[in-house]
Amino acid sequence: MKFTRSILITGGAGFIGSHVVRLFVNKYPEYHIVNLDKLTYAGNLANLTDIEDKPNYTFVKADICDFGLMLDVFKKYEIDNVIHLAAESHVDRSIKDPFTFAQTNVMGTLSLLQAAKELWTAPYTSNRFYHISTDEVYGTLEFDNTFFTEDTKYDPHSPYSASKASSDHFVRAFYDTYGLPTIVTNCSNNYGPYQFPEKLIPLFINNIKHKRSLPVYGKGENVRDWLYVVDHARAIDVIFHKGKIADTYNIGGFNEWKNIDLIKVIIKTVDRLLGSPEGTSDTLITYITDRAGHDLRYAIDSNKLKDELGWEPSLQFEEGIEKTVQWYLDNGEWMDNITSGDYQEYYEKMYNK
Ligand SMILES: NC(=O)c1ccc[n+]([C@@H]2O[C@H](COP(=O)([O-])OP(=O)(O)OC[C@H]3O[C@@H](n4cnc5c(N)ncnc54)[C@H](O)[C@@H]3O)[C@@H](O)[C@H]2O)c1
Repeated sequence: MKFTRSILITGGAGFIGSHVVRLFVNKYPEYHIVNLDKLTYAGNLANLTDIEDKPNYTFVKADICDFGLMLDVFKKYEIDNVIHLAAESHVDRSIKDPFTFAQTNVMGTLSLLQAAKELWTAPYTSNRFYHISTDEVYGTLEFDNTFFTEDTKYDPHSPYSASKASSDHFVRAFYDTYGLPTIVTNCSNNYGPYQFPEKLIPLFINNIKHKRSLPVYGKGENVRDWLYVVDHARAIDVIFHKGKIADTYNIGGFNEWKNIDLIKVIIKTVDRLLGSPEGTSDTLITYITDRAGHDLRYAIDSNKLKDELGWEPSLQFEEGIEKTVQWYLDNGEWMDNITSGDYQEYYEKMYNK
């Protein structure tokens, strides 16, 4: 079959990437989806077993930092569009090892941009380079009624957010300098199935299930804005097809939660779904020293995306968290495969348990 587009999705074996790959492979059989992933600790092909045999899907194991290899991949698969998600994504790891974050998030992004620039031809009518970023580039908000908008000045505080901010600047610079047709989106915290269990929600669901402690930074006062991952993938679909070149869109669910309140909802939901009496797991909460440079509050204003492109989240948080907890409880084998062995040692040490 002759495909109408050949889309390189980077980081497709990770959490959000696997949802984007699944959506595009199933919804657009006329597109060839090339999932390129290095399979770091966070990449897991078990996230994609349901679509791996589809005729419009190809997996390539590669490092985005390898520029020569990126040129080869672009040529071999006649890549005409990029949706770039590959990144080092965990703030705690960035505090311990900032070099890896600069390498992958900055140099890796640059390598993809340069490959697109060398191989695509102006006026780029059938090309776009869509870069997925985070709201963390905007820094932190006070406990007031303000939100991050597309005009908020960048003010990153962690090596992770600094590396993402830098990559966003490179993407925009490639439009300004070479006319490469780029789009950037900045999204709030995602939750849902297939998230690596170093991140708060899957980590805590698994810890409650195994009656392990729930390490809470500081007093748990920090506020995050949570979006169901499938809604993020839906937004990426809409923006990829209808977004304006050189533009930026914020993606969020107007769904702010103080960490400690979110943790209480998780505890209550897990206990209920496991058939334990309410309050069973409350004592697992353990307050630990706050994360260095911990941003107080993130909150995204996604009205531009709603007004211009008609996207809104489809799931209310209560429904999303219920589905998410149920998914992790139903997929114990997926979780156990990750948390066994070397990784277990890592997160034991990391959370001082
Ligand atoms: N998780 C969130 O809440 C969130 C929110 C907003 C934006 N984002 C952004 O979305 C993207 C995906 O985040 P995620 O949570 O799915 O991350 P993740 O850590 O689950 O997945 C990242 C994927 O990238 C791959 N990867 C890492 N380094 C690579 C390299 N050098 N070459 C090729 N592949 C490499 C990993 O193997 C993994 O499959 C990231 O760019 C992140 O900054 C995440």
